[in-house]
Amino acid sequence: MLRQALLLAAKSSQVRQLVETAPVSRGVVRRFVAGTGPQEAVSVTAGLLAEGLTVTLDHLGEDTTDLTAARTVRDAYFVLLRGLGEADLTGDGRAEVSVKLSAVGQALGKDGHKIALEHAYEICAAAAEVGTTVTLDMEDHTTTNSTLSILTEVRAEYPWLGAVLQAYLRRTEGDCRDLSGPGSRVRLCKGAYAEPEPVAFASTGEVDRSYVRCLKVLMAGQGYPMAATHDPRMIDIVGALAAQARRPQGSYEFQMLYGIRPVEQRRLAEQGEKVRVYVPYGLQWYGYLMRRMAERPANTMFFMRSLISRG
Ligand code: FDA
Repeated sequence: MLRQALLLAAKSSQVRQLVETAPVSRGVVRRFVAGTGPQEAVSVTAGLLAEGLTVTLDHLGEDTTDLTAARTVRDAYFVLLRGLGEADLTGDGRAEVSVKLSAVGQALGKDGHKIALEHAYEICAAAAEVGTTVTLDMEDHTTTNSTLSILTEVRAEYPWLGAVLQAYLRRTEGDCRDLSGPGSRVRLCKGAYAEPEPVAFASTGEVDRSYVRCLKVLMAGQGYPMAATHDPRMIDIVGALAAQARRPQGSYEFQMLYGIRPVEQRRLAEQGEKVRVYVPYGLQWYGYLMRRMAERPANTMFFMRSLISRG
């Protein structure tokens, strides 16, 4: 119930305005968001790399409703990638970027797909210039076909372009099979949007079982699986399946969100695993933060307490 309410609130512009203008302490947002601008993002990235982690950076924003805004987001990625290159953080893909296609135009009516495709090409070109990679985030199920088709098209030129697949979607095991070929980079997560029952598994157990089935496909495939989860059971299963598939450390990676289970991130890295931290930055933190709260009541309590104590 709380999860559904928070996910609905994530889409509501009225609630967004209320929360964004509430006297939330900087610290609350800062726990999950690296800062507002590219300099802070680059500086947080440098710190994480120095600790033996790797990073993917997300310029916060989604559901862009006009072309100018979509271009502004694309340009923000250009600035970020240049900054990462100048700071020498991109070698071996140590710091890469994640892109939400709705932020670069996918939601702009009948031309949305084409605009997002062009912007994806341009961001990949900028990433190639500084020697790093891009991963396409996955949003609600109405965008899955468009996102996967953009992935296929852009991969013809930039084969390292990665994508996110969401285990809660019933279609995803099949998508994992399609994307388990050589060079394919797939970030497997459980899924964070409110989806209808016909397209998505509803119970935690079903989603977890789907996650394991998808992981099996990716681990047995020839691509590069990226297991995006904080779930201790899934993390153990990743290790077991990698051993079963005789995959050495570095032929797959763990991924977690900035500010979530930081101790576990470092523990895995100390054991020689490749661990990538998903680091969001920017002003539009609302939708992202609401999804984090929907995932875990403890995050919601932390946020509410801060609102009350400040309000
Ligand atoms: P889940 O939320 O099911 O929790 C399982 C267990 O993990 C908990 O019981 C607890 O033990 C542990 N745990 C979880 N959160 C914790 C916390 N805060 N502190 C301590 N323990 C905790 N989604 C999407 O739809 N599209 C996308 O593109 C992406 N991209 C993405 C990238 C990366 C790198 C990550 C890690 C995640 C995403 N997601 C996403 C979000 C994803 O779909 C999912 O909502 C969250 O990762 C939560 O699912 P988990 O697998 O982490 O565990």
